[in-house]
Amino acid sequence: MTEILKLDDGEQLDFDRATVEQAYDRWAPVYDFVFGGVFSKGRKAAIQATGRVGGRVLEVGVGTGISLPQYAPHLRIFGTDISEAMLRKAKRRVKALGLKNVEDLAVMDAEKLEFPDNSFDVVMAQYVVTAVPNPEAALDEFSRVLRPGGELIILTRISADAGLRRFIERRLQPVVRPLGFRTAEFTWSRYAQWLATTGAMGLVENRPIPPLGHFSLLRIRKTAIAAAA
Ligand SMILES: C[S@@+](CC[C@H](N)C(=O)[O-])C[C@H]1O[C@@H](n2cnc3c(N)ncnc32)[C@H](O)[C@@H]1O
Repeated sequence: MTEILKLDDGEQLDFDRATVEQAYDRWAPVYDFVFGGVFSKGRKAAIQATGRVGGRVLEVGVGTGISLPQYAPHLRIFGTDISEAMLRKAKRRVKALGLKNVEDLAVMDAEKLEFPDNSFDVVMAQYVVTAVPNPEAALDEFSRVLRPGGELIILTRISADAGLRRFIERRLQPVVRPLGFRTAEFTWSRYAQWLATTGAMGLVENRPIPPLGHFSLLRIRKTAIAAAA
């Protein structure tokens, strides 16, 4: 199904699951080579944050499993992705490295997670939210499967709200969309609005992350009060 997305000023762009799936099936053979180094500092920071909470971790959009070897051995990791080709690489990595803390890897849409409520201590989404057709639907799912007191850890690109960077990001948007990327339509105000409407999630940290400081590490905690209501 094609989702029509609106930029803040009302311009519309289509971005659907099939496009993203195909894009990442194509990226799979070269993904680690192209995106391994450039995102490594962000991934390291996100994994460190995970260690503080511990327990069972859901990594959504686990891709080729590039982060999996970095998790502490006492954690249990369940990885999901919509691209079978990316997951095949992740499975090979787990086998080759003998990673015992990886519980399972499964094809699953971030917008429709097949887990009961409150299943995980941590939900991790590294460079994924902007790839999902309906990011708010995915964020709602992350919140649902997280236990009260657990943390949602998001590494993401935050689009500019205004100025030259916003102008450039908007011009780049149609070019990068077939590659499975979005540059323009996920500004901080969109996260802030989601946080305000959910009522169940509170921002703990918003830390700029290299490269270029256009990326952020967000730590968002599920409040026990909202979950019990
Ligand atoms: C930019 S890659 C990030 C991969 C990995 N997390 C990393 O840090 O390199 C985005 C990943 O999200 C996956 N993805 C995109 N849309 C998704 C969705 N709706 N549900 C689950 N995974 C999705 C893609 O297949 C891809 O593996």
